[in-house]
Amino acid sequence: MEFGEFTYPDSLGVNPNYNLMDNTCSNTYCHGGFKFGDIVGNNRTVTWNSTTNKEAECGTCHGEIDADGNLVTPLPTGHFGNYVINDCANCHSSVVNSDGVIIDKIKHINKEKNF
Ligand code: HEC
Ligand code: HEC
Repeated sequence: MEFGEFTYPDSLGVNPNYNLMDNTCSNTYCHGGFKFGDIVGNNRTVTWNSTTNKEAECGTCHGEIDADGNLVTPLPTGHFGNYVINDCANCHSSVVNSDGVIIDKIKHINKEKNF
């Protein structure tokens, strides 16, 4: 461990890290440090004090955003099929609606597959 860098004990299978020097959090489950078989999240490093409002946009933790931070698709890497945001509700209906709005925040990030 270096100065300004704290490594926490194993949490949800990953080792989250907060870097005091540049205010970033890395390797957290919530921001995409997950793997369900072939399906993986983006394991994103987020800037804690960012003022862009883009750090937790849909598509950042799993899926894809463009260079401007706009959503391309929330579909995570390795997911079978090719679905857009309105399709998620066809299968994950307890989590999201057909507008792509999260309807149950607890189920959305609970380390389980929810349908
Ligand atoms: C802060 C990070 C983050 C953002 C932003 C995010 N997700 Fe997720 N999402 C996750 C994680 C982590 C999972 C893994 C499943 C779990 O833990 O329950 C997940 C899982 C899902 C699932 C699978 C169902 C489930 O929960 O098991 C769907 C569908 C989903 N997200 C849709 C969306 C949509 C639509 C948006 C934008 C409105 C979005 N997500 C934004 C982190 C995020
Ligand atoms: C046709 C049904 C179907 C659609 C549509 C679908 N999923 Fe899934 N999804 C599944 C199944 C089934 C699994 C579990 C696959 C496995 O375990 O191998 C899964 C797993 C996942 C996972 C990892 C486990 C979990 O539940 O968190 C995420 C994240 C996810 N889907 C996100 C999405 C997002 C985002 C969309 C929309 C863009 C979407 N899915 C659309 C059926 C679907």
